[in-house]
Amino acid sequence: MEIKGSLLETKLSFTDGHHNPDRSTKMLVENVHFWYGEKQALKSINLEIFDREVTAFIGPSGCGKTTLLRCLNRMNDVHIEGRMEGRILLDGVDIHSDHIDPPELRQRFGWVAQKPDPFPDTIHHNVIYGALIHGLVSTKAEQEETIERALHQAGLWDEVKDRLHEDGTDLSGGQQQRLCIARALAMSPEVILMDEPCSALDPTATARVEQLIDELREHYTIVIITHNLQQAARVSQRTAFFHLGEMREVGDTLDIMTNPADPLCLAYVTGRYG
Ligand SMILES: Nc1ncnc2c1ncn2[C@@H]1O[C@H](COP(=O)(O)OP(=O)(O)OP(=O)(O)O)[C@@H](O)[C@H]1O
Ligand SMILES: [Mg+2]
Repeated sequence: MEIKGSLLETKLSFTDGHHNPDRSTKMLVENVHFWYGEKQALKSINLEIFDREVTAFIGPSGCGKTTLLRCLNRMNDVHIEGRMEGRILLDGVDIHSDHIDPPELRQRFGWVAQKPDPFPDTIHHNVIYGALIHGLVSTKAEQEETIERALHQAGLWDEVKDRLHEDGTDLSGGQQQRLCIARALAMSPEVILMDEPCSALDPTATARVEQLIDELREHYTIVIITHNLQQAARVSQRTAFFHLGEMREVGDTLDIMTNPADPLCLAYVTGRYG
């Protein structure tokens, strides 16, 4: 079979392409449907997301990837017209249970957007702001410690340690995206949701963020949406393919990229569709 851009080689160069046999479930999506008013955006989605693993969502534009990502941390609650059916569990607990407080729930997630979106403020404030307003840090020493840890984890410390009081918006695009990742990490999330995090970055900055994602999976569960199949192949252990609101196939990334069962998924990963 012809594999687009030698995805198989890409995969093999990064990880062995197969999951850790001792994986455990972090999130469970059970029979989820979602509507924007009359329009159904997700149909009967069933998906297991494993702890400390990277799951990639792929599929053509408008197939529901962002909608599902926003269901995972209840960001879709803000849509007056939005309605979800089904269940989503985080560590076995239904995220819509009465005792769950949505802001507290969202704190367990980091969100990295398509375009780096630092606040027009210093690097220092960008990293610590969320942790401060949520009361996760109090003393000056705790703040400095958290900033240094988050910037280290985001692979940005060496580049910014001497300019923490300069504007975050003065950094390069790739640095800004790593700053946004540091901002998410400062909140000590459990799951990091990334919606096309490299789509505004050049190839060098993209490679740096991909390497970072690979490092972060040691400690965090990551879900990444990408239109770049090479990227899905490089960074994820598991891939879910979506089409018109349905999840057509999910499996180990290597299997999805090289030998998918679903004909539409095969057409998509071989570049004949989408
Ligand atoms: N706020 C909204 N109001 C109404 N319809 C919406 C809204 N957001 C998304 N939709 C619709 O829901 C469907 C799924 O959209 P979604 O953004 O989840 O797709 P996607 O797979 O993330 O697409 P892309 O790859 O272009 O980002 C699309 O038909 C879209 O038009
Ligand atoms: Mg989207």
